[in-house]
Amino acid sequence: MKAIEIRNKYLNFFKKNGHAIIPSAPLIPENDPSVLFTTAGMQPLVPYLLGEKHPEGTRLTDYQKCVRTNDIDEVGDNRHLTYFEMLGNWSLGDYFKEESIAMSFEFLTKELEIPVEKLSVTCFAGDEDCPKDTVSANVWKKVGIPEERIYFYGKDDNWWIAGEEGPCGPDTEMFYDTGKPPCSDNCQPSCDCGKYVEIWNNVFMEYFKEKSGYSKLTKRNVDTGLGLERMAMLLQGKETPYDTEIFRPIMEKLEELQKEDYIESRRIVAEHLRSSMMIISDGGRPSNVDRGYVLRRLIRRMIRHLNKLQINLEQLETLIDININNLKEMYPELEKNKEIIKNVIIEEKNKFVKTLAHGEKEFEKEIKKMQENGITKVAGNVLFKLYDTYGFPPEVTKDLAQEAGYEVNIEEFEELFKKHQEKSRQGSEQKFKGGLAEQNEKTIAYHTATHLLNVALKQVIGKDAHQRGSNITVDRMRFDFNCDHKLTDDEKKAVEDLVNKWIQEGLEVTKQEMRKEDALKSGAECMFIEKYPDIVTVYTIGNISKELCGGPHVSNTKELGKFKIKKEESSSSGIRRIKAILE
Ligand code: ALA
Repeated sequence: MKAIEIRNKYLNFFKKNGHAIIPSAPLIPENDPSVLFTTAGMQPLVPYLLGEKHPEGTRLTDYQKCVRTNDIDEVGDNRHLTYFEMLGNWSLGDYFKEESIAMSFEFLTKELEIPVEKLSVTCFAGDEDCPKDTVSANVWKKVGIPEERIYFYGKDDNWWIAGEEGPCGPDTEMFYDTGKPPCSDNCQPSCDCGKYVEIWNNVFMEYFKEKSGYSKLTKRNVDTGLGLERMAMLLQGKETPYDTEIFRPIMEKLEELQKEDYIESRRIVAEHLRSSMMIISDGGRPSNVDRGYVLRRLIRRMIRHLNKLQINLEQLETLIDININNLKEMYPELEKNKEIIKNVIIEEKNKFVKTLAHGEKEFEKEIKKMQENGITKVAGNVLFKLYDTYGFPPEVTKDLAQEAGYEVNIEEFEELFKKHQEKSRQGSEQKFKGGLAEQNEKTIAYHTATHLLNVALKQVIGKDAHQRGSNITVDRMRFDFNCDHKLTDDEKKAVEDLVNKWIQEGLEVTKQEMRKEDALKSGAECMFIEKYPDIVTVYTIGNISKELCGGPHVSNTKELGKFKIKKEESSSSGIRRIKAILE
């Protein structure tokens, strides 16, 4: 069964069972700076798991685009992926264990036609925070899983939480028996030998974890997640996701183009290319910090492996086309964002190739020195130098080192990297302070107009038009935002009209101090969350805009005058720049 058929079957099955199908949230979480990317279907739903009412009701289902990067350097083996799709269904205080398990069982055995003999399940064994989950185990027995294939494990295996704090609970996991021989007499689902593959996780979210311990949520929720690529692989009887139709066309093209044969490199290229394309399509751009840095690492590592396969980098565009053709049925946004995806990847490639060969030479020099001194682990400062001078992400150096038979000291690198980021942050805060010294009536007015422009662009272009930068002088304001096209005259006019309408309405600008977390929960916008202290100032303009901001601002929008866009141009790929004045 093809992945898209599994997805459709899943959504239809839960629809038939009273669930509303909701759209996938973007990979780049909105107003949630606590994570870099959406990593699970539940993430965009946290407010509703905490008790807020969802407009679509208490039963929801979706497919969610996810990126997880903790295992980025494991990609290339037969199972780790940075991008994957999670199918999920939720009960927000509606059904609980019995119905959830019964539906999962029916879907697996009836819709996907997996023989019951192939299934094993695990339940929470119980501890001082939460009792043993005999309820789930009994339901499994009732639907048809024999007792000997029901296992109990502790928090390490059968408890689910996103990160350190938040909604959580015991879970029950379903495993598929691949039919491989057991690795020992005690081979179980918890074992890593590959006989059992986890296919679905149903979390019974009735707890909330904070530093001080666990409390009960007001409602008992269900949150489930099924990895699509993995399910496709199993149902198709394949050994790896790369053997499914999701990756076949790109893998075949790589095989055709390569002059050197490395299966790991082909997988890394195929995986990182898909991941990068999905991130760019959802608004991500390469940079040296946070999300942008993850994207940069994915693209650069991919480039290095294309080189290793001796595939001409001019072929990148063809590879992107193949992926878009193959994946556009699943993700129509890829086709829509084709040009921007190509531009961003090719621009990043051009940047990296300038330093790649020099960096590799430098690396060889270092290895020689190490050989002379009998050192077998590449030191953090060498990793850092390659990063800082030649733009080598640590994974790239790690790959090079491994190929030469050396290890790398990633921890040492991480420390140097952190220190370096700290320093540049201090630097930019210094600059920011300098800017404020120039404050006067005009710059203050531009500052408030910036907030209005930010909202107007979201309303006219789309909610993904995020602020990417801003600069104010006494003569004008400048505003950068992501957008994949040149604004049309109609769009520019609509933006101007909106801002001027809000100015004419004489909206009050109010200031409030609150805890950073509360500010974000309340939906306040902000560009660089890590720049702000724990207590922040939030500026609200009527009911139009709410942003974390140091201020100062005018007290009423009628003080602004008339807003006029003077210029709209490209700032860098995928980023547009508006220059505007207040007359
Ligand atoms: N949130 C659960 C997971 O990611 C379903 O496994």
